[in-house]
Amino acid sequence: MKTTISQSPQFIDQTVTIGAWLANKRSSGKIAFLQLRDGTGFIQGVVAKSDVSEETFQLAKNMNQESSMYITGKIVEDTRSPFGYEMQVSSIELIHEANDYPITPKEHGTEFLMDHRHLWLRSKKQHAVMKIRNEIIRSTYQFFNDNGYVKIDPPILTGSSAEGTTELFHTKYFDEEAYLSQSGQLYMEAAAMAFGKVFSFGPTFRAEKSKTRRHLIEFWMIEPEMAFVDHNESLEIQEQYVSFVVQSVLENCKLELSVLERDTAKLEKIKAPFPRISYDHAIELLKEKGFDDIEWGEDFGAPHETAIAENFDQPVFITNYPAEIKAFYMKPDPDRSEVVLCADLIAPEGYGEIIGGSQRIDDLELMKERYEQHGLTGEAYEWYLELRKYGSVPHSGFGLGLERTVAWLSGVDHVRETIPFPRLLNRLYP
Ligand code: 4AD
Ligand code: MG
Repeated sequence: MKTTISQSPQFIDQTVTIGAWLANKRSSGKIAFLQLRDGTGFIQGVVAKSDVSEETFQLAKNMNQESSMYITGKIVEDTRSPFGYEMQVSSIELIHEANDYPITPKEHGTEFLMDHRHLWLRSKKQHAVMKIRNEIIRSTYQFFNDNGYVKIDPPILTGSSAEGTTELFHTKYFDEEAYLSQSGQLYMEAAAMAFGKVFSFGPTFRAEKSKTRRHLIEFWMIEPEMAFVDHNESLEIQEQYVSFVVQSVLENCKLELSVLERDTAKLEKIKAPFPRISYDHAIELLKEKGFDDIEWGEDFGAPHETAIAENFDQPVFITNYPAEIKAFYMKPDPDRSEVVLCADLIAPEGYGEIIGGSQRIDDLELMKERYEQHGLTGEAYEWYLELRKYGSVPHSGFGLGLERTVAWLSGVDHVRETIPFPRLLNRLYP
């Protein structure tokens, strides 16, 4: 019977065959312990000299790390291992003998590991992070599908910029200039006018010269957009969505969270509603915390966000930023036009901004004014303005950065470990 490591607990006391790689091993005179992996999980294979042929025992003892094999044996319970099961091996069929695998169980430097990312993905910790990423994606689709959203895919090659022109990747589009998408938002607004509630999930690109633990050049964003939904209603959707994802990861990634030694008590607390503080209040709070230089009108950096987040054990919304420091499409507060109806959601424990969202300007004249102020003239936006011409309605949306959310829930420090093949300021390889 051929099976996988994750399915093997269904075969207790039965003999099965698994296609696997050797992650690690140790052996003594009479017994060899093989740490096996097959992509679905990790299991220990116990090879006792007395139970197998001399040939099999020698093979088990001498096999190199990352050699591949079909391995056959009996699945038994093993309460000492985190997985809870092991295999009592009866035979091994070597498929391919690996030689000099570069990532050994000793410590390696980050640059070395990043250069070997195509192999590093096989390691236990990286495997756990990618499984958590997968669960965030799965539960995202579940949340939006269950709540009546339609998945819409905005284009990646575009003629317009959504988030300002300084961080665009340029490319030639035959005879025209084109950019790689920074955000699908403008197209999602068109989609919301056609389908009501929509979401996208795709890669976005920012030519940002930032070398921080929160910035990638290519990252994945989930962008819901909702017609007939105002700013406050959007915040409620955001906190419900984030709570749902956190609880799904806690429920479905127990093993992965334990491999990563994540403090799950902190995640258990993440339940809607989340606290909201205004930008004005955040400035006061920062001054109290000793950030004497910060002035009203300045944007927050990572140290500011971390200082604010320290006051809460839930993610916190910072609302109503000055219009000056935010994107052109955000709707001014009707009671106070120097601030806009927007919020950034700041994750706890120093993981920073995971969501940026806002209510959008729905008035044609105001939109024209604002985009011209931002130097965004041109044909590329004509279609976007038409959304305000034909049945304009109040609408809101937001973007959640997948990798920062993975970093937070996995408890890893740097976003470079939260995407299979990170694109960083100095890295396009592998
Ligand atoms: O705040 P941002 O720039 O918002 C937008 O792009 C809006 N158009 C979204 C919308 O309303 N539909 O980006 C949204 C999120 C951030 O909160 C952050 O989590 C993530 O995207 N993000 C990055 N993640 C990794 N590397 C980068 N360089 C990122 N830039 C933004
Ligand atoms: Mg933002």
